[in-house]
Amino acid sequence: MISNKPRLLTGDRPTGRLHLGHYVGSLENRVRLQHQYESFFIIADLHTLTTKPEPQYIKEIPTYIKETVLDYLAVGIDPDVSTIFVQSAIPETYQLNLLFEMLVTVPRLERMPTLKDMARDANIDSMPFGLLGYPVLQAVDILLPRAQVVPVGRDNQSHVELAREMARRFNNLYGEVFSEPDSIIGDVPLLVGTDGQGKMSKSLGNAIYLSDDADAVKQKVMNMYTDPKRLRATDPGTVEGNPVFIYHDAFNPSKAEVDDLKERYRAGKVGDVEVKQKLVVAINNFLEPIREKRAYFLAHPMIPNDVLANGIRRMQAEAKTTMELVREKTGLSYSLDLFVDQVDIFGNEG
Ligand code: TRP
Repeated sequence: MISNKPRLLTGDRPTGRLHLGHYVGSLENRVRLQHQYESFFIIADLHTLTTKPEPQYIKEIPTYIKETVLDYLAVGIDPDVSTIFVQSAIPETYQLNLLFEMLVTVPRLERMPTLKDMARDANIDSMPFGLLGYPVLQAVDILLPRAQVVPVGRDNQSHVELAREMARRFNNLYGEVFSEPDSIIGDVPLLVGTDGQGKMSKSLGNAIYLSDDADAVKQKVMNMYTDPKRLRATDPGTVEGNPVFIYHDAFNPSKAEVDDLKERYRAGKVGDVEVKQKLVVAINNFLEPIREKRAYFLAHPMIPNDVLANGIRRMQAEAKTTMELVREKTGLSYSLDLFVDQVDIFGNEG
């Protein structure tokens, strides 16, 4: 697959099924961008080890990798134009990571705005070396296929900035290998969870998953947080910032219906139940084609299997090319072949 489009890389840690927040925050964007860029989507399993290296967590990774691939395919990431691969299947990831570790200082990493929060969320009180290196490993992910653009959420912007610095530093020291990648920051605000308390996330238990069935969606929506000050259907309600209306705006294609509900809500002329029932219908209509595709791939497991096989093969080839360049530029070109049948290495000629 030869392409002269600029290269894109982004991805996710395999930590569970993907939800509506992932959809509006990144998946929708990727499905669009994959036609503009030669796209690589990484399932970053090694990154999960930065906070969870124990075997019981490693054991969960294969299931989550499968869920992630199914979700990617179900939303329309097209394996005929995009490459989906697993990070730990690319040996060069480990190799380039070590070289990159030499090109960044500890104080620079300690200034990253994300790492202390990640440690706190994982109940880690003393920073592991590998967690400090999280953004270095991410720079490796980005630069190994020599990606030029990286669509990420605002929370990952500082990591892409570090990848730019790593590329610059490497090129200055050893010679031009990497281009400095640009981030593409989605302009969608983070989707609020069904509890209205914070962003939608697995750990907060406030997520609607792309793979939820119609009953699960109904149950979650009917229990959603709305305007807490509104006690009766006849009380005027607040639409702004109300999760039920945020979701209507995001997933209900009928603007007329949404406008009518908002107007009646503000006037105290509609109950929460009707607003929610219409939202159940809208979200289920939105999810139905995604569910159907997911079920199809689940019933034909050789398809996602081959998607990963092809993706890993493709990425391995790219990684090999990059590491050959890296070895050449750094001068670190030792290999067994250098010494086998080359009798003159220590000789006067060598
Ligand atoms: N750090 C990303 C996250 O928040 C996952 C990730 C790993 C990633 N490697 C990447 C994103 C490379 C973009 C590019 O889960």
